[in-house]
Amino acid sequence: MKVIRDPHEMQEWSAERRRRGIRVGVVPTMGYLHEGHLSLVRLAKAESDVVILTLFVNPTQFGPHEDLERYPRDFERDRALCEAEGVDVLFAPSTGVYAGDHSVYVVEEVLSARLCGASRPGHFRGVLTVVAKLFNLTLADVAVFGEKDAQQLRLIRRMTRDLNFPVRILSGPIVREADGVAMSSRNRNLDAASRAAAPRLQASLRAAERAFERGERNVQALRAEILDVLGDLSPGELDYLEILDDQSLSEVGDLIRAPVLVALAVRFPGARLIDNITLNPEAPHATRPQ
Ligand code: PAJ
Repeated sequence: MKVIRDPHEMQEWSAERRRRGIRVGVVPTMGYLHEGHLSLVRLAKAESDVVILTLFVNPTQFGPHEDLERYPRDFERDRALCEAEGVDVLFAPSTGVYAGDHSVYVVEEVLSARLCGASRPGHFRGVLTVVAKLFNLTLADVAVFGEKDAQQLRLIRRMTRDLNFPVRILSGPIVREADGVAMSSRNRNLDAASRAAAPRLQASLRAAERAFERGERNVQALRAEILDVLGDLSPGELDYLEILDDQSLSEVGDLIRAPVLVALAVRFPGARLIDNITLNPEAPHATRPQ
């Protein structure tokens, strides 16, 4: 496996492969890899000839009071995991990937207004900007993202469509711990009480899903079901719980008639956790989570 740190070298490496008709896949990450990331590598490998995993803790997507400094990092561990998974290139640029006087950003104006975009101003501007840079640096044919970050995935698809990036976006299902907690690099920053409360995120979504499968279509009733299972999250607190149109992320009114995204975020002292499910009234039993 090759480790590339220089952005120009990355672009040259991919350009040379593309000239030979080799299909390039990319899995963008911020490192501290877990099974969720590795499942995306496997998807990328199935859809391309060579796979690049990018590892960059992107400062522009962290707010001034967020956990950039505390974000877990372990390069040697990540390198070994990539090697074992058959990644061809580990692209780990320094913050120098942004020019000192960098001044161009990608801003999406509709989907980013809600959910995490509302509680983390500027976050998706940072995400889309770095993902656009990574697309240009890796010249990928295929890029794979996780459904865990549901809003991020929808925004990246929208950016790719609206700005005509010649890349195919694929997604992979949420990979979970045995107790249902969605895997996240940030889980290690949870204290014991928060970690003990964390399984209730998925449990609450599953309760809503069961109600949906029994025929419940009322948004308020499903919200109540979720809040009931979430209960008192202390030391955490609910950041948001939303039931929105799956594609446009707009309000759906009182009754669910088209696929919805049910998304929630909880702020624990050490880390903010997110989780989601989609519910589809046309195939109510086809959504059983991952
Ligand atoms: P990061 O949080 O490292 O996640 C990298 C990719 O792994 C994302 O596509 C994310 O959705 C996916 N992922 C994370 N946890 C997952 C899980 N439990 N199951 C399945 N997929 C999972 O998301 C980012 O980094 C950054 O915002 C990035 C896109 C790299 C831009 O900086």
